[in-house]
Amino acid sequence: MTYPKTRLRRLRATPALRALSRETSLSAADLVQPLFVCHGENVRRPVASMPGQAQLSVDEATREAEALAKAGVGGVILFGLPATKDPEGREAYDENGIIPKALRALKRATPDLLLWADVCLCEYTDHGHCGILNGDRVDNDRTLPLLARAAVAYAAAGADMIAPSDMMDGRVGVIRRALDDAGQAETPIVAYSAKYASAFYGPFREAAESAPKFGNRRGYQMDPANSDEALREVALDLEEGADMVMVKPALPYLDVIRRVKDRFGVPVAAYNVSGEFAMIHAAARNGWLDGERAALETLTSIRRAGADVILTYFAKEIAPVLGRERE
Ligand code: PBG
Repeated sequence: MTYPKTRLRRLRATPALRALSRETSLSAADLVQPLFVCHGENVRRPVASMPGQAQLSVDEATREAEALAKAGVGGVILFGLPATKDPEGREAYDENGIIPKALRALKRATPDLLLWADVCLCEYTDHGHCGILNGDRVDNDRTLPLLARAAVAYAAAGADMIAPSDMMDGRVGVIRRALDDAGQAETPIVAYSAKYASAFYGPFREAAESAPKFGNRRGYQMDPANSDEALREVALDLEEGADMVMVKPALPYLDVIRRVKDRFGVPVAAYNVSGEFAMIHAAARNGWLDGERAALETLTSIRRAGADVILTYFAKEIAPVLGRERE
């Protein structure tokens, strides 16, 4: 049946018809807002490259979490700024470090908001790499027990989800065993399974003060040209016990999100990273595009590609818009 009997425009005629035939939904509950937590009190240090985002002391992060919970946002993921950095990234696995402190406060203030804890050493090491070094190489196997210690400390402090982002081989299995041994068998792991060595992390490294002091992360993060390899990463992480897998960044890797969803049919998260956020804000500030519409279209595309959950700095500003009637 073709034209003139078939007219696809019929179902596009009004807002009500468009709402009825819309294939992809986007709601605040699908979104997870990243927060950068630092020591001190009443600290709110804006991140220049990420309008509206700031390094927050625990009291300020608590206020932020309360507002996000009220807006219906699905959760927050915490990144920590330690008091001091050292070669082993000690504060990452200190039970009294910045992340356990923040988790305890947020769990009390917003018991129903899901608290995700990112597990990685790069914010805590003085060299800025995601594990401990052997010469100028990151030592995979000596890093694993430290990641496991961090995961256990965060779960004990109230983390609802443990999210390793370091890209070491075997870390999901080691973390799963450590959590189980510590009586945290019910705590889910969200593995950053396909995390690419991306230019789009630039603003995050300003916010988290985590840029590597030498070299780059191409020796452990994935090559942007690969997607078969992403499927292998996901398969291994699922075998090791991951409950949800992640693709990161999101926009340049929508095809990877789709392949992962189609192949495995497991819960998939996508990280709409700092650079993706910054470029929309930068263009909107110049009057070059409508920032709110661009953000909505971006987030919808990530859901359409197959992501169940989106980690995004837009959560805070977009959640209120999602409640409103959409055209
Ligand atoms: C590494 C980590 C990174 C991000 C979150 N955790 C990337 C990196 O520096 O390699 C990036 C998130 C973003 O850009 O929004 N632990």
